[in-house]
Amino acid sequence: MMLFLGTLVLGLLHGTVAQHDLDLYSFVTLPEVRALKFEIKHIDRERQAPGYWFVAPYGQIDPEKSTHRYQQYQIGPYIYDNDGKLVWAGSPLYENRNIFDFKANWNIDDQPHLSFILQHDDRVKGSGMIMNNKYEVEHEVGVVNDLQAFNMHEFNIMDGGKTVLACTYRTQTISFEDFGRPNEETWAQTGGFVELDVNSADVLYEWDSRGQIPAHESVKLNPWSSTSDAPGSDYVHINAVDKNDAGDYIISMRFTNTIYGISGQDGSIMWRLGGSESDFDQDFTFHKQHDVKFISSNETMHVISLMNNGADEGQADERISAALYATLDMTTMEARVIKRIERPDGGLTRLRGNVQQLPNQNTFVGWSQQGYHSEHAPNGDLLMWAKFASDRFSSYRSYKFDWIGRPIDPPDVVSSVYGTNREDVLTIIHVSWNGATDIAGWNFYARSYEDGDKVFIGYTAKTDFETMYLADGYMDWVSVEAVDKDGNALGESETHRTDMPENWKSVGFQGSAVPTPDDPSLLYLPENSTNSNIIDDGTSASRIKSQDQIYADTKEVAKSVYKVYALLRGIEWFAVAAFFGCLVLGVVLGVKRFLRRRRQVSSYKNVPTEEGLEDAESLPVEEIPLRRNSDG
Ligand SMILES: *[C@@H]1O[C@H](CO)[C@@H](O)[C@H](O)[C@H]1NC(C)=O
Ligand SMILES: *[C@@H]1O[C@H](CO)[C@@H](O)[C@H](O)[C@H]1NC(C)=O
Repeated sequence: MMLFLGTLVLGLLHGTVAQHDLDLYSFVTLPEVRALKFEIKHIDRERQAPGYWFVAPYGQIDPEKSTHRYQQYQIGPYIYDNDGKLVWAGSPLYENRNIFDFKANWNIDDQPHLSFILQHDDRVKGSGMIMNNKYEVEHEVGVVNDLQAFNMHEFNIMDGGKTVLACTYRTQTISFEDFGRPNEETWAQTGGFVELDVNSADVLYEWDSRGQIPAHESVKLNPWSSTSDAPGSDYVHINAVDKNDAGDYIISMRFTNTIYGISGQDGSIMWRLGGSESDFDQDFTFHKQHDVKFISSNETMHVISLMNNGADEGQADERISAALYATLDMTTMEARVIKRIERPDGGLTRLRGNVQQLPNQNTFVGWSQQGYHSEHAPNGDLLMWAKFASDRFSSYRSYKFDWIGRPIDPPDVVSSVYGTNREDVLTIIHVSWNGATDIAGWNFYARSYEDGDKVFIGYTAKTDFETMYLADGYMDWVSVEAVDKDGNALGESETHRTDMPENWKSVGFQGSAVPTPDDPSLLYLPENSTNSNIIDDGTSASRIKSQDQIYADTKEVAKSVYKVYALLRGIEWFAVAAFFGCLVLGVVLGVKRFLRRRRQVSSYKNVPTEEGLEDAESLPVEEIPLRRNSDG
């Protein structure tokens, strides 16, 4: 009857909880983070480059008013592994502000860095951010000139990390002289770029389209266009800038269908590629392009990459969007496409997008909408594609980079104790470490009291962002240590106190006396362990093996308990009480079957008096409501 009720309640709750956010992750250890899930198709793993995905999902491109921001963190900078498992959620750092051009940089010093644009909002102008791999901000490159905002398109850190390129938009008048209307001017958004000093944000170089790109090059204006008041036409729409070793720049203007070479010496336009005035003999076309970058460049030859969107919101100029690589021969003025990678689903990326050549010559392409991205072999073969499970979000650009994350914050741990009677009490420990890479597994430790001796209680491999571990008994104080594949410790959590049910009876506890904490040294030290197969020679490796065997058969149970947990977050406490009343009985009976090991029941006997806890039986029953884990 109870099991039946439990199933019924489970079904009902599932119906109400599930609808709106199954496409988002939720974590016990980071309840405020709702990272986006991915749909992924691996076609050929062998040929994929190693690395992590760097994406910055946003819901709406315009900054949301600070008062309108949703409480839980979904948008912002995120790192995922190649299987779409979360590595770092940076969203809580910036209160749901939009983030753009989020990537790793290996061109600053011998350590990897992060960079991204923090969008302006109703209070601030926004800035370009550079972080170290401990996730500490090293530079915030703000707006020190008269510009209204830090533009969202580009934050391109030059080698050595001293300067950075950014796009600029200005509201000013341009002439209609080239339309045969010499006395007329219109307000327009002109497009340009700046090279900024990373330390001071001072403008070292500035270029603007006013007086350089006449009105007739724009697809947004024609000889009959009427003049308009500010802000006027977005007539060029700059969206990318890069620089070569010679000190010259390359920029992409979406609404002139043109890539321009700009002299670093005098700011003149040296050449145009594409559009109505191309200086090149071209064997390819492109329209409404994004993210032009130098692949290589010397006096005689530029090799560039770009996203050929081939369309915008209003019209389709081409059949399909494609990543392009092209050579620009500066002696013959011939432009030749050398690689063309079409969008795998045959669609059009009508706006945004980027193209990244990976170190092994693979190409990673961000098709932007719904975070769609794909990886391709040097010959163009599709190796993988992925997109957000949710269609509510996009990422302006998406990148793949190697990454080593060593957060200064310790791993996050949440532990709770449950049971139906004194013999089957379990401590359920959840652990994650936001931003840490190279974690192979977790060592779990318990203490009888906060400063007590640390007792090793188990190891489990890391399989996802968050790992759950079931420890036999009531472990009151727990800590967790991350270890790499060689067993080296990467870091350890603080010591956390285990949450217990507010009311044991209401979660299905049948025993007469409320459970009291166990002494982990009695339960887990080898000589007293019922698991004689633990060979503790003091190395992690031996623990890893034995603990793996021991806990293999609890995995199924772990999964079902985890599902219960996932379900419970977001549900009110009263529902949790009713739910657990029915459900815990079933789950724990199952757990009991799986554990197949007898435990020694042992209450505190050695609690030091300075802790003020003379007798375990008189321990105050603390009011640590389950709500802490379930109010997400
Ligand atoms: C210039 O770059 C092209 C393309 O990478 C290369 O083939 C050529 O040898 C280079 N020329 C010089 C003078 O380095
Ligand atoms: C092992 O258990 C026995 C009694 O069961 C106890 O006397 C002994 O102290 C325990 N050993 C350790 C290391 O806790």
